[in-house]
Amino acid sequence: MQKLCQDVCLLTKKVGVFIKEQQEQFSSAKIEVKGKNDFVSYVDKTAEKKLVEGLSTLLPEAGFIAEEGTSTKKGEHYNWIIDPLDGTTNFIHGLPCFAISIALMRDNRLVMGIIYEINLDECFYAWEGSKAYLNGKEISVSANSTLASSLLATGFPYYDYQRMDEYMELFKYFMKNTRGLRRLGSAATDLAYVACGRFEGFYEYSLQPWDVAAGAFIVQQAGGKVTDFKGGDGYIFGKEIVAGNAASFEEFLGAVQKFFN
Ligand code: IPD
Ligand code: CA
Ligand code: CA
Repeated sequence: MQKLCQDVCLLTKKVGVFIKEQQEQFSSAKIEVKGKNDFVSYVDKTAEKKLVEGLSTLLPEAGFIAEEGTSTKKGEHYNWIIDPLDGTTNFIHGLPCFAISIALMRDNRLVMGIIYEINLDECFYAWEGSKAYLNGKEISVSANSTLASSLLATGFPYYDYQRMDEYMELFKYFMKNTRGLRRLGSAATDLAYVACGRFEGFYEYSLQPWDVAAGAFIVQQAGGKVTDFKGGDGYIFGKEIVAGNAASFEEFLGAVQKFFN
């Protein structure tokens, strides 16, 4: 598992070089619209193709759940969950903060997570039974034990407005009761930053498995907690996630549940 994880990190770095090179010559004419505020380009698609090819060599029996649909092969036991470019809106606007996110599932359990944030050249990773790491150094979630001393990350609703009112009320509550809120524009990076203690917590709804699978696993291996809004384990396929350090998680989740029930 460790060797496979190292090989996947190397692969993400190679594909990261490709993505970074493309940003330098990227023009808005190359953007395709998938849905409201949902963009894609040849960069996401080519990056995913490179990842699927590389991962197929590393673990031939594995299947894929990949955002751009490059492969729909189903693995009997192993499946990779891939977001080739998390933070596409940042990418097309020339902003830093975008990442490659790759998780491995064995049957229905996550057993590996790799997030490579391309601009800062930071690779976050963990495998079954391991600690969590950032570029070779062990990382862990923060020890801050109160919401009042927490810096939180979130993603603003941008196409699914069904729970906007609850979201805005919770947002107000956190504005008044935390050190602040950030919206980086890459859920994978938000989760990686929870894992290494830069953020105390992250929450968002309407996310897809490829946005959260790797990050959720790395947060857990770094000593953090991850649930859906109900406190259950539907955070990969259930489209809602709360992730945070262990020390303040109860208070954090309690606040989310005050507004989303
Ligand atoms: C998006 C980012 C963003 C989150 C969105 C995701 P994409 O992924 O993770 O932070 O708010 O919901 O869809 O489209 O850039 O891969
Ligand atoms: Ca994504
Ligand atoms: Ca993406």
